[in-house]
Amino acid sequence: MTVIGFIGLGAMGYPMAGHLVTAGHQVRVYNRTASVAERFVTEFPGSTLAKSPAEACNDADVGMLIVGNDDSIRSVALGPEGAIAGLPVGSILIDHTTASATIAHELAAAAAEKDIGCLDAPVSGGEAGAQNGVLTVMCGGDEKTFVTAAPLLDAYAKTRTLIGPTGTGQTCKMVNQIAIAGLLQGLSEALNLGILAGLDMEKVLATISDGAAGSWQMSNRGQTMVDDAFDFGFAIEWMVKDLGIALAEAERLGAPTPIASTVAEYYEELMGSGESRSDTSALIRRLRSTD
Ligand SMILES: NC(=O)c1ccc[n+]([C@@H]2O[C@H](COP(=O)([O-])OP(=O)(O)OC[C@H]3O[C@@H](n4cnc5c(N)ncnc54)[C@H](OP(=O)(O)O)[C@@H]3O)[C@@H](O)[C@H]2O)c1
Repeated sequence: MTVIGFIGLGAMGYPMAGHLVTAGHQVRVYNRTASVAERFVTEFPGSTLAKSPAEACNDADVGMLIVGNDDSIRSVALGPEGAIAGLPVGSILIDHTTASATIAHELAAAAAEKDIGCLDAPVSGGEAGAQNGVLTVMCGGDEKTFVTAAPLLDAYAKTRTLIGPTGTGQTCKMVNQIAIAGLLQGLSEALNLGILAGLDMEKVLATISDGAAGSWQMSNRGQTMVDDAFDFGFAIEWMVKDLGIALAEAERLGAPTPIASTVAEYYEELMGSGESRSDTSALIRRLRSTD
């Protein structure tokens, strides 16, 4: 049994922490909004409530975070009430938040001062992936820390890979998000054409999903895009945050991103029209409103 301090019980963190309890670990949870943590300990007997990230991680083997962005990571990981203050020498800190490579280095340096191992470990697979325990985890850090952490990640991951040193987990997630942005715009344009042509889109999707154009987005979002249903999934406001991080890194590296930059503007537009919490596949709505 591993003692784990888990911080951030949002759409992703709540089910992830639940899988850790189910796997038999001793989990102490902290959430900024305490009522969510209270609900969690009722739903998952054996887990306990902590009043601060430091208390959750006090003498724990592992601290895990999944919060919003760079600033929220700082507020739960650093300082006297932060996770690092509670973790003992020789423990591990795993950050599952999608954030910048800069904060990954900042966190790893603060952890190293106390001889704590650190992984930046953003995830892919969405809320459903977290609930079903089939996330993809992209890790940055050293081999020894990764090997120790891997069996814990298996509680909610179908794949977990050490990409390279600190920061490379976050950079891998940037590659993932840029790929998704272009893919969703392509899928939107394609499905919109089929709808305007009056095709039986259920038949179309069933036919082409297994072909060369098939993708996770087509299989999991194609039909809901046709149905104009977006009240679930990965919120556009998170994608805007992720693309902001990815495009800043692309600029720093001199990597051209004509499509992803355009799609980022489209998402800003959609946020302006009240779609902040809609799934990212709502990109197709821009095409419908101009036809
Ligand atoms: N949802 C997805 O499909 C998905 C997929 C892959 C990756 N991600 C990434 O995973 C992370 C979490 O996403 P989510 O969907 O779980 O978000 P969410 O449902 O909005 O939950 C965010 C969590 O972070 C906490 N938090 C936010 N700011 C904080 C702060 N300043 N101090 C302390 N706690 C703070 C929130 O606490 P409160 O309860 O108090 O608000 C909540 O527990 C994000 O980085 C997101 O980009 C999400």
